[in-house]
Amino acid sequence: MEITRRLFSYSNAISLHVPGHHGYSIGSLQLPIHHDMTEITGLDDYHHAEEVIADSQRNLSRSEQYEARYLVNGTTVGILSVIYAHKKKSHKKVAIMRNAHKSVFNALDLTGTEAIILPMTVSDKINQYVGIDELNIKAKPELDDVDIAVLTYPNYYGETFDIKGAIDFFHGQGIEVLVDEAHGAHFDISPQFPTSSLNDGADYIVQSYHKTLPALTMGSVIHMNKNSLLLKEVYDYLAILQTSSPSYLILSSLEQAHEFYSHYNDEVFHEKRQALLHALRHFEVIEVQDPLKVVLKKSGYSGEELKTLLEEQEIYIELSNYDSILLVLPLWHEGDTYPFNELLRRLKRIGLEDREPLELPHPLNVNEGVYSPVKGGYQEVLLEEGVGQRVYHALIPYPPGIPYVLPGERLSEAHVKVLSAYQNVHGIIDGKITIIDER
Ligand SMILES: Cc1ncc(COP(=O)(O)O)c(C=O)c1O
Repeated sequence: MEITRRLFSYSNAISLHVPGHHGYSIGSLQLPIHHDMTEITGLDDYHHAEEVIADSQRNLSRSEQYEARYLVNGTTVGILSVIYAHKKKSHKKVAIMRNAHKSVFNALDLTGTEAIILPMTVSDKINQYVGIDELNIKAKPELDDVDIAVLTYPNYYGETFDIKGAIDFFHGQGIEVLVDEAHGAHFDISPQFPTSSLNDGADYIVQSYHKTLPALTMGSVIHMNKNSLLLKEVYDYLAILQTSSPSYLILSSLEQAHEFYSHYNDEVFHEKRQALLHALRHFEVIEVQDPLKVVLKKSGYSGEELKTLLEEQEIYIELSNYDSILLVLPLWHEGDTYPFNELLRRLKRIGLEDREPLELPHPLNVNEGVYSPVKGGYQEVLLEEGVGQRVYHALIPYPPGIPYVLPGERLSEAHVKVLSAYQNVHGIIDGKITIIDER
């Protein structure tokens, strides 16, 4: 009963992290456990929807130009399906951004597809990958061999870039665009929030409803432009890659989250957000384009230390990194049951001291490149011993799940320093990594 007991131990916890229902306190989800059902008479077959699921999915569509489908295996399965569909029809490459989620790299590995890595821009505010360096891609002959681009918009931290410019650019080259909008399911919820790439003609858009809207974890939505070239193949792969026992609880939560999205009034949200930012004034508060995301820093403190200070008050955040932490705010609304006043009380108890600033972290690699699935054998070595070697399995701090060192890239001392600041890095087990066996 380890998992169950541990889950019960969080009964006093306050959530500033996904999922977007924040401990069932946002939205008014109705999810009685007896709604966990199967395809009995009167319900519908998810993989061959003709009745209630089909009707519900028609309402889910956010625009005439798009068909929308519920996903019960997260945005991950939407990304996998589009890349599999692409492989089925084309021998060309995929263009990706360096901050692609690991599901993109997994899809490339599984389908044996090569990718070109686009040159990136990094945000001044928080030193994270944010967009494409368009000046550097305009004249790329490598794009002649690409027919789909996968763009991450927004980044994990809620920063946006000119997605319309990027989509128009790729379309101008005859390249379709899949937008990984995992962190933007709530976009367009009101004029104060960024807009979705649905407005900009993206061909495929995948949104993790569960991250920012009140839906159960694993609940996502794919929107497909009715003119997209891979429409039929994507449906085929969604049926192959998703479970044959889809959860009605997830489907129902997605439907309710969509209803919430469609009728949301953001007045209470902005009032509470202002009150929260005031309560956080002893931190360095960094606001990004998406008001739902807040980054906190404090001179001389590592992200891990800041996270611990909050956890001592049983406030749990989305992630910590080298020198900052990320909060995902709830979409507060009239009548929500989120313990907001208690959050303010707990924040008041946190004491911070003046410290010398930390050394600046290693600058991110913004260069273009090529990603080829790595083949052959590997060796295991301690992280520090891997300096100068080419890594076999990607090194991926989790969260955010964005590879910091890609397979085939050479590990540097600066990489080791940054990776050591993360508690959980996929690709490091018992302090060891894998390197390509070049003996
Ligand atoms: C940018 C990005 N894309 C895709 C995913 C996968 O989404 P899901 O958890 O809905 O499968 C994540 C998850 O963290 C993500 O951060």
